[in-house]
Amino acid sequence: TARNRNLSGLMAEVLNREIICLLQTLGEVAQETGCHAYAVGGFVRDLLLHIKNLDLDVVIEGDALAYAKKLGKKLGGKVRTHEKFGTAVVKLPDGFKIDIATARLEYYEYPAAMPTVELSSIKLDLYRRDFTINAMAIHLNPDTFGTLVDFFNCQNDLKDRQIRILHNLSFVEDPTRIFRAIRFEQRMGFKIGRHTEKLIKNAVKMELFDRFFGHRFFNELISILSEENPIPAIHRMADLGLLRFLHPTLRIEPKLATILEETRQALAWHRLLYLDEPCRQWLVYLLALMSSLPVREVVVFCERFEVPLRHRQFLGREKLAVTRIAAIMKRAMPETPSGMYHLLKDLSPEGLLHLMGLLKKKGCKKAISLYVTDWRQLKPETDGNDLAEMGYRTGPLYGTILRCLLDARLDGLVHDRASETAFIKEHFSLPDQ
Ligand code: CTP
Repeated sequence: TARNRNLSGLMAEVLNREIICLLQTLGEVAQETGCHAYAVGGFVRDLLLHIKNLDLDVVIEGDALAYAKKLGKKLGGKVRTHEKFGTAVVKLPDGFKIDIATARLEYYEYPAAMPTVELSSIKLDLYRRDFTINAMAIHLNPDTFGTLVDFFNCQNDLKDRQIRILHNLSFVEDPTRIFRAIRFEQRMGFKIGRHTEKLIKNAVKMELFDRFFGHRFFNELISILSEENPIPAIHRMADLGLLRFLHPTLRIEPKLATILEETRQALAWHRLLYLDEPCRQWLVYLLALMSSLPVREVVVFCERFEVPLRHRQFLGREKLAVTRIAAIMKRAMPETPSGMYHLLKDLSPEGLLHLMGLLKKKGCKKAISLYVTDWRQLKPETDGNDLAEMGYRTGPLYGTILRCLLDARLDGLVHDRASETAFIKEHFSLPDQ
């Protein structure tokens, strides 16, 4: 039997009014449709930890598609359904998304290790989940609104800060869960339980992953590398013998450990200064992890994990460019800011941070950081209209003059409009009148 406890008080403490009203509406629509609605997974886990998590996963005992349509109508949201999986997403007018799934009895195509007939579908739905901490639900129907549904004593594991699977076949069913275990352990400062860790080691020994590549696995890797500080999780992957599934030669040697740490510092610096410049942290860490591999091995990796084409192209291009630039900078740094500017100007923010993570010398880091903070924003004050007014004929010459002017500005040869005008007159003769 489920251990029942009402979480309405906790909800009022942790969540704002709007979300609670939304949850109540979800329950009312369930009542009207004659089904049961539950909030499940990370939302419940985080609520019990007093953390606000706005990823709302809802499980319906009944027809989730009919439910989603009704909900969409009531809230004026857009509904997208996946008939085949019995799932739907309702997107509210303010952009808030609710994932809705049907609690089904048969979910995986393997013989389940228990008598399914005895279980209600929410119970089985929860039993099929990755870890006990993610296997609780909150009933949303009006009569029982806020009741915690905890069939497997999951609250205890949450209290003991343990990551535990629910049944021994969990990793066989879905080996990507091994990466999830590590991510949750490191993110929340929990510990993978003894038995669960043993099962992970068994799975690694059995080379269970050799059959499981592909994009689901890659998505879990992205999630790990997107955590605030993924380095402890990377070390844990190494300890458990998992890095070699990314690539057979991947090891955390002192050199890679240093690169990862330097990468973390570069990312922290960038985040502090450029909060609104988009930079995909996971790509920077992935480039760092792969820094010792030749490009063709990165191509092999991308194929094995079905990395989407846009990421493949990006990884290949930035890796090649950064490797080339790092070699140049190690040999001889450009002597002028303009030289540095032209070396770096085609790199993405991710490429720039990867480069910072690779280079140890203070001078190199300083030059890249100056490029990021100052040089890349620099523009001459003179523009095409000014050149026309000065009497230059429109044409390719304009581009040449403006490029030279930018270099002069970078190198401190000009610093305002007047000195720019003088510079132009000195170096570019006007056409004969
Ligand atoms: N789940 C699972 N097995 C997986 C992936 C997900 O059982 N391989 C279940 C878990 O119950 C999880 C829920 O689906 O709680 C939602 O998955 P997801 O959104 O990926 O994870 P969250 O637990 O919400 O974690 P996060 O905070 O990282 O979003």
